[in-house]
Amino acid sequence: MNDEMISRIKALKEEKDVVILAHYYVDGAVQEIADYVGDSFYLAKVATKVKEANILFGGVSFMGESAKLLNPSKKVVMVDSLADCPMAHMVTKEKIAEIREKYDDLAVVCYVNSTAEIKSVSDVCVTSSNALKVVSNIAEKNIFFVPDNNLGRYVATKLPEKNFIFNDGFCHVHKSIAKEDVLKAKEARPDAEVLTHPECTMDVLEISDFIGSTSEIIDYATASDKKEFIICTEMGVFFELMQKNPDKRFYSVGHRQFCPNMKLVTIDKVLDALEKMDPEVVLPDDIMESAKKPLERMLELAK
Ligand code: 13P
Ligand code: SF4
Repeated sequence: MNDEMISRIKALKEEKDVVILAHYYVDGAVQEIADYVGDSFYLAKVATKVKEANILFGGVSFMGESAKLLNPSKKVVMVDSLADCPMAHMVTKEKIAEIREKYDDLAVVCYVNSTAEIKSVSDVCVTSSNALKVVSNIAEKNIFFVPDNNLGRYVATKLPEKNFIFNDGFCHVHKSIAKEDVLKAKEARPDAEVLTHPECTMDVLEISDFIGSTSEIIDYATASDKKEFIICTEMGVFFELMQKNPDKRFYSVGHRQFCPNMKLVTIDKVLDALEKMDPEVVLPDDIMESAKKPLERMLELAK
């Protein structure tokens, strides 16, 4: 990143009254220039508090949509509108309607990695860092957890009092982190602790020392007395892990820990989006109204 580019981004932010939010999976140069960097839950909360009139979002579509839903009066601009999470599309409104027909006493719990349309027919949203708390605070016994099968199954192991119905969505990045690769990494680094995102498959979760969201993984490693960690999530987190812990070592489990959508968010596109204040997140009025309710309920239940 050259100095001229940084100065131009800073000047445009000031001139156009823009705050930059970025997820831990985007390129380090974007994390460096952002005003707030965090996991999905943190970014959703921050979005409700910022004073600037405009939000520039370095992340995938569902994150920008959540920021817009929670702040209808703000203009939300994406760094790259093509950055989209495939898992967000892995459940349909029809499937949700079908399950609602079958069960009484049902809550549709929607992972924020979902489209605004899916949120509009869900009862409450969750993120990877608040799912346990939110679901345990729901009165309904039956939980249809969408779209992620892996996070749903993980939450279910912790809340046996609920009856879970699972969807078959998944994150291709986390699903491709294989147990055999984790075991190999452990063999090579016997003193390292394994820190894992709950979007990974159950066999990987079972051999992990800690399971948490991106922020929780970073906080855990930072607070730990241990010096070596094997990281089972997208490689973008290495930037903050190394910034906060220059004396510790972090290892990946292979070449697959790469989200191609998050990596569309680059520093030159940050500059471009600031110059044009485009592409803007625009949602239909009826979706704005209905999809913000499960997000607001999440913020309430996660308090
Ligand atoms: P976090 O909830 O940790 O931000 O994770 C979001 C995500 O997309 C994981 O793949
Ligand atoms: Fe979606 Fe997976 Fe990329 Fe996260 S890492 S944005 S869940 S594809």
